Amino acid sequence: MLKVAVNGYGTIGRRVADALELQSDMELAGITKWTPDYYAFLATQKGIPIFAGDEAARQKLVSSGIKVAGLVPDLLSYSDIVVDCSPEKGEQNRKMYEEFGKRVVFQGGEESSIAECSFVAQCNFEEAHDRKYVRVVSCNTTGLCRILKSIDDSVGVEKAIATLVRRATDPNDTKKGPIDSVVPDPVELPSHHSEDVKTVLHDINLTTMAVKVPTTHMHLHALAVKVREPVLEKAIEGVSRATRIILMSSKQGHSSTSTVMDYARELGRPRGDLYEAAVWRESMKIEEGWLYLFMGIHQEAIVIPENIDCLRSMTGLMDSSSSIQATNRSLGISK
Ligand SMILES: NC(=O)c1ccc[n+]([C@@H]2O[C@H](COP(=O)([O-])OP(=O)(O)OC[C@H]3O[C@@H](n4cnc5c(N)ncnc54)[C@H](OP(=O)(O)O)[C@@H]3O)[C@@H](O)[C@H]2O)c1
Repeated sequence: MLKVAVNGYGTIGRRVADALELQSDMELAGITKWTPDYYAFLATQKGIPIFAGDEAARQKLVSSGIKVAGLVPDLLSYSDIVVDCSPEKGEQNRKMYEEFGKRVVFQGGEESSIAECSFVAQCNFEEAHDRKYVRVVSCNTTGLCRILKSIDDSVGVEKAIATLVRRATDPNDTKKGPIDSVVPDPVELPSHHSEDVKTVLHDINLTTMAVKVPTTHMHLHALAVKVREPVLEKAIEGVSRATRIILMSSKQGHSSTSTVMDYARELGRPRGDLYEAAVWRESMKIEEGWLYLFMGIHQEAIVIPENIDCLRSMTGLMDSSSSIQATNRSLGISK
């Protein structure tokens, strides 16, 4: 059993921790906390060992009645590998990981230079094999990589242009905005997402633009792809065959990101998480050689299966298709 430490127990960390508990070849060694909030109490109730971020955090946690198993270095000594789910403090943490000689999976908020390669399971699983530091890319980049790889495999991508309508923040966050504005983010184009996608799909010709809107539950991508073989049925077949992409239909009432998230809740998954990128079937059209589509991304969930597969690729526990299948089965992803 691969013993995995999760450093940072926020939106991503607590989902990675739960996903680890569902794998038959890995175990959760423990998580780290700084703040004695309800997540710390929930982790205690779940029987997860909690390690304090530092001595001051340990005192705060203990005086709030939370049992602390040790400090972060204790967790690292006991673990084979780390998933860093910190709020973009990976660079700062990396020195400590180096000291302990630990392999690390970093998250998409970090610069790509933090790791030897970036990762999306269905695109470049093998590239992470035997690496010490790998970065699972952000939610938006993961979605773009999945869809562009599936289109490239079926009808070939010559050039792609994506407009990302990004959720402002996560549902539990009351501090960030906007609350009444659409914000070009960044104003200076293109946005960083195109370069980020190229850290996984090295040869893709992509330009991205992004705006931030006052919603918390999903990103929506509008994609235009100049394809080599403009055959709609072939493109649809490619997208529907690809793992971790589902086709939603407006004929079945999917009129917005709200219905997609409602559908995810009805699937009965923990937290109503949607690990798949959701493509609107009726949005897929080809005109003058360009394929168009809308795709929804549940930002809190889409990178969770990637983290599990990344651990397997780095440590050689399984090959690409066995790992993707095992992760999918454990999380209730049907294909
Ligand atoms: N949220 C998303 O939608 C999303 C999607 C894809 C990727 N990501 C990426 O995933 C990473 C984590 O984001 P998040 O949204 O999960 O963050 P988050 O919800 O803000 O949680 C961050 C967690 O890190 C803990 N922490 C604080 N200082 C730390 C340190 N020095 N080292 C390790 N952990 C520390 C915090 O502990 P306390 O709570 O105890 O203070 C908190 O639990 C970022 O790189 C982000 O860009 C996020």
